[in-house]
Amino acid sequence: MKKQKLFFLVILLTAFGIGCGFYHSKSGDNSARQALDQKTLNKKSLGFEDIQYIFNNACVHCHNGANPSGGISVDNYDSVKASVGTVCSAITSLSMPPRSANPLTPIEIQIIAKWVAQGAPEYPSPTGDPIPTPTPGEIKATYASIRQLVLVPSCIDCHNASTHKGDIDLSTYAGVKENIDKVHNEVVVEQSMPPKWPLSADQIQAVADWIAAGAPEGDAPVEVPTPTPAPTGAPPVLSATYSSIHDQIFVPKCMSCHGADGKASDVPLEPYSELIAQTDVVSAGDAESSSLYTETSKLKMPPKKSGPPLNSVEIETIKTWINQGAKND
Ligand code: HEC
Ligand code: HEC
Ligand code: HEC
Repeated sequence: MKKQKLFFLVILLTAFGIGCGFYHSKSGDNSARQALDQKTLNKKSLGFEDIQYIFNNACVHCHNGANPSGGISVDNYDSVKASVGTVCSAITSLSMPPRSANPLTPIEIQIIAKWVAQGAPEYPSPTGDPIPTPTPGEIKATYASIRQLVLVPSCIDCHNASTHKGDIDLSTYAGVKENIDKVHNEVVVEQSMPPKWPLSADQIQAVADWIAAGAPEGDAPVEVPTPTPAPTGAPPVLSATYSSIHDQIFVPKCMSCHGADGKASDVPLEPYSELIAQTDVVSAGDAESSSLYTETSKLKMPPKKSGPPLNSVEIETIKTWINQGAKND
């Protein structure tokens, strides 16, 4: 044991001795950097934790929360993710870092491109193999689709007949069905499974819709239950108008906090004039810049602890209403 350690020390010293000459720290850093780059590029599945050092070394001093040059900050996962397309193209087109600063190595550029191609995830996948993120709309609220696009890539490694973490086997329909309440809780309410590799909002929504429809095994398209049936007569159909969204979504699901006495009364959702005056909440014609849409589609509103998220029909209806001009209709 001791001999082995000594051997490594000698190798290490020799490497430094040969590589560095008098320019000790500089070329020492470079060979360590090259080794790290190569090791990172060789990983099959990359998470932010693997690549963060690249931003830290080359970008963060000009792009952080206190000093976001060009409006870009890359000092944590959320900030990188928020502008990942721009960041990636700035790097691969060699426009960033600026010529005055230290360039990235060619391998670092490849690493960033590879990470972005894998969906720019926060964590590497539990299996080491990249997990394909289904494109929005690809995943359906049926067992077959959820099995293929959620359970197999993200759950079954840890929850099968032989490895059944938490005593849960999700490799068969019966196993899923038996634990359906726990699955709902972990995936939809707590969003704590899989432990390190978050599901996309689409995946969570499909699971929520499928469970809401009774978690059937068959592939028949799932009818998403109409929200909040009226006390009498036929349930009103949700439509992309302010009055419909107000009556069927805001009143039952939001006003407890967003009403005049609620803790979020500073973000009023009624009357129409007060809602529309908050341009960051509703940017008419542009749902992606409207927090009313982004907060609900990312399942941040209503807050997890206060109740189930909106279903995909409700979220789409909000999106359509905003994109059609957010009229007072
Ligand atoms: C020496 C400071 C400096 C460093 C280092 C630096 N940047 Fe920038 N960056 C700037 C400044 C200043 C701007 C805004 C002016 C401009 O657009 O040229 C900018 C703009 C940007 C933009 C937005 C402009 C665009 O191309 O759309 C992105 C994205 C960006 N930087 C990414 C990065 C990344 C990623 C790194 C690290 C690999 C990096 N920068 C390193 C100073 C820097
Ligand atoms: C990397 C391994 C791993 C992956 C991947 C994983 N789980 Fe788990 N899961 C665990 C462990 C460990 C536990 C038990 C400890 C705990 O509750 O945190 C657990 C517990 C659970 C439980 C039981 C919680 C309870 O209340 O007893 C459910 C339900 C569950 N996981 C569902 C899922 C679903 C659904 C997925 C995929 C979307 C998934 N898990 C992915 C490791 C994993
Ligand atoms: C349990 C309380 C609660 C419920 C229920 C709730 N919210 Fe919120 N919401 C909050 C709080 C707290 C904030 C932060 C308000 C602030 O900035 O002071 C907030 C903020 C928001 C924002 C602004 C976010 C931003 O950063 O611009 C939007 C939009 C929003 N909520 C929409 C909704 C919608 C739509 C619903 C119903 C589907 C809903 N909320 C239900 C508590 C709630």
